[in-house]
Amino acid sequence: MTDASAPALFTWEFAADPYPAYAWLREHAPVHRTTLPSGVEAWLVTRYPDARQALADARLSKNPVHHSERAHAKGKVGIPGERSADLMTHLLNIDPPDHTRLRRLVSKAFTPRRVAEFAPRVTELTNRLIDSFAARGEADLIHEFAFPLPIYAICDLLGVPAEDQDDFRDWAGMMIRHGGGPRGGVARSVKKMRAYLLELIHRKRAQLGDDLISALIRASDHGEHLTENEAAAMAFILLFAGFETTVNLIGNGTYALLRDPGQRRLLQDSVGRGETDLLATAVEELLRYDGPVELATWRFATEPLTIGGRSIGTGDPVLVVLAAADRDPERFAGPDTLDLARRDNPHLGFGHGIHYCLGAPLARLEGQTALATLLTRLPDLQLAVGPEELRWRGGLIMRGLRTLPVSFTAVRDVVNGQ
Ligand code: HEM
Repeated sequence: MTDASAPALFTWEFAADPYPAYAWLREHAPVHRTTLPSGVEAWLVTRYPDARQALADARLSKNPVHHSERAHAKGKVGIPGERSADLMTHLLNIDPPDHTRLRRLVSKAFTPRRVAEFAPRVTELTNRLIDSFAARGEADLIHEFAFPLPIYAICDLLGVPAEDQDDFRDWAGMMIRHGGGPRGGVARSVKKMRAYLLELIHRKRAQLGDDLISALIRASDHGEHLTENEAAAMAFILLFAGFETTVNLIGNGTYALLRDPGQRRLLQDSVGRGETDLLATAVEELLRYDGPVELATWRFATEPLTIGGRSIGTGDPVLVVLAAADRDPERFAGPDTLDLARRDNPHLGFGHGIHYCLGAPLARLEGQTALATLLTRLPDLQLAVGPEELRWRGGLIMRGLRTLPVSFTAVRDVVNGQ
């Protein structure tokens, strides 16, 4: 087989179910050069060992200045709108030693302990959102649940006052819809968000609180602090990296459970008994089985190198296909089967190496709380449309549903109606 006979990638059919095409690539063209819909040429890495190696390879830079085509200058790589808003200096676009310095500083502020202390608030937010539609007996779980939960959660954590959080919801909505949104809308939203964050940082500096933005301002490493611009870029990347990903964990995760009644029943019974073990392995399995980040973010070869026997030239972009690696049958037994109790599960859903997801503890907390609360409060939750009617977002990096219509027996109990 040659690369020329590779299945079509990035079509709407592919977006609905990319896994057969990834299986083909893993087998016949595990390091595959392709032209992306944007016209940029890139290498796709699909086997688990190659993916792990590439994610940790220091010769692959995260900084788009290393791209041979300079496509970043045309906004073809990276986060839409970020250049225009001058938010380039964030963790996913830089290499050591800058990355080491910034990551060390943010890690002092965004600690697992801070996340653990936030658990009751996530439960409260989750219940409040379910309260808002529970009496109707139907809902679109993306718009009414998966989308607002991470936005309100990160706003609370950062210390964005409640009265400003709906602005964030609007700006984030514009960013997530960028495929079909108004022209220039994303760049405008990013700009507004940056201006707001800078102003908020300025205000917090005058009166520090116990929120994450105050902790970012306070964090110091050998006497070094974040500048206001760095703190704004950091708050922005926490929002950006932690928002759509979590929407998709809740959306893809709920969808996978609704399509597999046996596995869903196991989880529902376990959660009903107040257990947490299966809930924890379930969220890891959902991250592996149909995770939110289909392709890791851009990497660029800073020198000639070899991955899986293929020669990669200096300046070539490399995209690690996490969704393909996490279904590699050489690493995972029965990779196309959802097995919520899977123990041997070193999935790459949160990446690997120095850019490993900084927000993994928060993502796990939100994912576990959202799924457990949904299954407990709406026990007969089911899809309200056939799977063939669902549409997936067409973006390159993320994998997620546009809508998830569900129905259930209406409940009038309000758990958290404030
Ligand atoms: C289910 C939800 C999430 C998933 C699947 C996810 C996945 C990932 C992945 C795959 C990477 C590495 C990308 C790469 O190497 O190219 C990453 C990095 C990152 N994530 Fe997450 N993420 C999630 C939630 C969050 C949350 C909630 C936050 C913060 C609030 C967050 C913040 C970050 C940051 C800051 C980075 C960059 C780290 C660095 O470059 O050092 N993520 N995430």
